[in-house]
Amino acid sequence: MILAGSAPSQTTTLGSVKDGGLARIFGEVFGSASEKMGSRIEQYAEIYGLPLLTENSTSRASVQTNPHPECFLAVIPYNHKRETLFSEASGPNSTRHILSEVLLSAEEDFEGAVRRIVKDQANLSVCEIQPIARIIRSNPAGIAQDGLVFLAELAPSQDATASTLVGRFASEPDLQLTSLEAEIVERARDVLRQKIYATPEGEVTSARRYGGLLASAIHHRIFKPLMYVLASRQLKRSLAGLVPKGKSMLDVSAGDDSFLLTMCSDRQVDFAIANDIIWGQMESSRRTARKQGLPVLFTSHNILDLPFKVLFDVVLFKNTLHHLRSQSEVIAALQNLKKLGRNIVIVDVERPTYGAPRIVNTYYRRLLNDAGEHFWTRSQFRALISEVFGTSGTKFSEIRTLKGVYMVAVVKQEL
Ligand SMILES: C[S@@+](CC[C@H](N)C(=O)[O-])C[C@H]1O[C@@H](n2cnc3c(N)ncnc32)[C@H](O)[C@@H]1O
Repeated sequence: MILAGSAPSQTTTLGSVKDGGLARIFGEVFGSASEKMGSRIEQYAEIYGLPLLTENSTSRASVQTNPHPECFLAVIPYNHKRETLFSEASGPNSTRHILSEVLLSAEEDFEGAVRRIVKDQANLSVCEIQPIARIIRSNPAGIAQDGLVFLAELAPSQDATASTLVGRFASEPDLQLTSLEAEIVERARDVLRQKIYATPEGEVTSARRYGGLLASAIHHRIFKPLMYVLASRQLKRSLAGLVPKGKSMLDVSAGDDSFLLTMCSDRQVDFAIANDIIWGQMESSRRTARKQGLPVLFTSHNILDLPFKVLFDVVLFKNTLHHLRSQSEVIAALQNLKKLGRNIVIVDVERPTYGAPRIVNTYYRRLLNDAGEHFWTRSQFRALISEVFGTSGTKFSEIRTLKGVYMVAVVKQEL
């Protein structure tokens, strides 16, 4: 239970995983749409350690007596200067508000809904989104609305002025705020202040360029299936044998890879998060997870600033070390993994210097605009992991494939 205004600063085990997940399963089977959404809101509150803000009101038109509270999402967009958008509705009864707010439908996932709201209301796309508070609105009849406030980072290189945006970006609102709004603004500013690293623009823009139809068709119809048979299948099988068992899993840079989903269905994982800085990369995984009813939450955060406040049995960091661009990024990413996982699995391909691995790498960089270029040798990889995690709980191995040698480190921590 999270108390009003408090946010746990340390990671804890997710409640539904700790309790064997039976309450969650009963809720999924028997709960009403509103109860299901309510339990998703609770799950977010726990995963992110969200403060609970309350508002007692009878005056708001939207707050009505209802046996089932309505669930809503509120979004605060912000730009690359970390200024938040304060919007203003025009008209004779001109009202101003800091949040774009919508009621949720049972089918929609929250992260997708945030992106839709910003697209619909401002015609802008979004990179990272992060819930920052839970709001419960009550009236004399009880709880009327239960919702989440999200911060949404607008994708770089968009012309915000050319959008349908109403309002302005600022670091301080020059509006008179209600006490709830003031708390939200303060919380938003706190969260943005704590973000040390900027979103890697190169990653985001290279992924946008990758959309070329011909490149995409060649990759998905020819290269990827071929590579699956020749290399990826073997890699995944060997890796599955090395990944420790666990009830909860996090893949910090899942991309378009289905490994986490396979683990979830084969091992009956209770809860998993697939994260990637580029939301679009996980599209097919989202479809698969939805179709198969897998308990996977999809999120979009920078590995360097992961805001999760729960501990996972297994954390995966696969094929992404070579995307990190400096010493400080590498250390920040590995320290984040250290805080979040009882077992951490780090995989990266050895520096491709000749032969097939070199050709594959050139293909990824030239045709797909892959942004990763800082590859490690085996001895560098081992030295790095040993330095950050120590050697006592760390096991190294290698998996040889046509695409190259995959270096694997499995770190076991007593947390
Ligand atoms: C080579 S892909 C690997 C994807 C997947 N893990 C796999 O093994 O196939 C690298 C992924 O890392 C993501 N990525 C790169 N930098 C990131 C960052 N700072 N935070 C989160 N994800 C990042 C990219 O968007 C991309 O999907």
